[in-house]
Amino acid sequence: MRRFPSGFLWGVSTSAHQVEGGNAHNQWSAWEASGRVRDGTVSGQACDWWRHAEQDLDRAQQLGLNALRLSVEWSRLEPEEGRWDREVLARYYLLVREVKRRGMRPFLTLHHFTHPRWFEARGGFLAPDAVETFSRFVFRTVEALHEVCSDWVTVNEPNVYGAFGYLAGEFPPGIKGDLRATLRVLARLARCHASAYRIIHGFQPSANVGWAQNYVVFQPGSERYRDRVAARICEQLFNESFFQLLHTGRLPAPWDRFGEPAPEAPGKCDFTGLNVYNRLYISLDPQAKRTLFARMFVPEDVPQGDRGAQYPYGECYPAAIDRAVRYAGRFGRPIYILENGVPDRGDRLRRWLLVHAVRRLHHLIERGHDIRGYFHWTLVDSFEWSEGWRLRFGLYELDTATQQRRARPSAELYRQIVHTNGLRSSLLRQFGSWQDGYAEPAAQGE
Ligand code: BGC
Repeated sequence: MRRFPSGFLWGVSTSAHQVEGGNAHNQWSAWEASGRVRDGTVSGQACDWWRHAEQDLDRAQQLGLNALRLSVEWSRLEPEEGRWDREVLARYYLLVREVKRRGMRPFLTLHHFTHPRWFEARGGFLAPDAVETFSRFVFRTVEALHEVCSDWVTVNEPNVYGAFGYLAGEFPPGIKGDLRATLRVLARLARCHASAYRIIHGFQPSANVGWAQNYVVFQPGSERYRDRVAARICEQLFNESFFQLLHTGRLPAPWDRFGEPAPEAPGKCDFTGLNVYNRLYISLDPQAKRTLFARMFVPEDVPQGDRGAQYPYGECYPAAIDRAVRYAGRFGRPIYILENGVPDRGDRLRRWLLVHAVRRLHHLIERGHDIRGYFHWTLVDSFEWSEGWRLRFGLYELDTATQQRRARPSAELYRQIVHTNGLRSSLLRQFGSWQDGYAEPAAQGE
């Protein structure tokens, strides 16, 4: 039996736009309406959390969880600039209280990819007054919710937000190949983080404030020097640059020549949140301009969840947790795994991932790493951004037409892990290699 320290947090993560339903005032709803989601779907009613989140909170409680991560939708609170909807804050207050009432510690994200359309129209985080505008929203939110929440995730995955929105063009604003804008967005988000940190600590000196960093293992596609260099560049830009901005106030060289500094950021971080999913293979390709000449691929014979409409999601790679924790550990802050999961409609791989992710965490903690919690992505299938409803990450399956949920076998497995606060050896034997218990992908489609 591998037992975790008492007080270790076992949670699930969600985000507002992906679960709430009826979000009509953010830039993602505009993006969906213009047909930019690959499978043509829209978030629509999503998981209906705005009206009925409590029912899923009951499910989370039945799993025995003691933590839950959710986010606040800025565009609900301030649908038009300067017009604040107090009822929205009242709803979030109740929701967060309901999380706590069920014995779960709420982690609240302030920016999880979405913001009001009017903010986007002014240039989003590239607008000259973006930090001030974002800070006004943060102030209102924290003022209203600090009595019920003290764990705050300022920004979710600045690296994904920047790279998908300004390099790959897969997220709004859909800009392709603009490295300079990508790096400037990162710096702005670092400054927003710093400002949010100051505001939160103003209300709550003992608050726990961090951000969520997506960490991908970039594996050189061959031993060739050029592939190793291409992989290293991805690693530096995608995995490391936001850490550097936050802790030194500058991007790593030579990228600092293209971006902006964030001088107010250093010293403003209580924890590191890591969102860890996969490994991608990299080879240098002069044609791949949008991804800085790195071609990304995934070999057929590695464990993989369901494919996106155009691209594979990546290798399902529990060892990515070791790499991410070892890198983040250098910065000397407690670590929470704030997301980890796999798109797996048929639940053929998820249990293997859970068992091995937890095994690796246990090993890292034994080695002295200060890891305080694991949050699985996610409780119920939710709207998966540019992949729409195609990719399913839930411990519970959602029928979007009827809103019915059905537990996948992984839900029971996670319940056992949480219940025993650890991993029984029998689970390791049962899910020793990824082929054990593996089922062929079920046919896709609603
Ligand atoms: C994001 C989530 C997303 C998940 C699965 C993370 O990048 O924070 O919003 O659903 O990965 O792709």
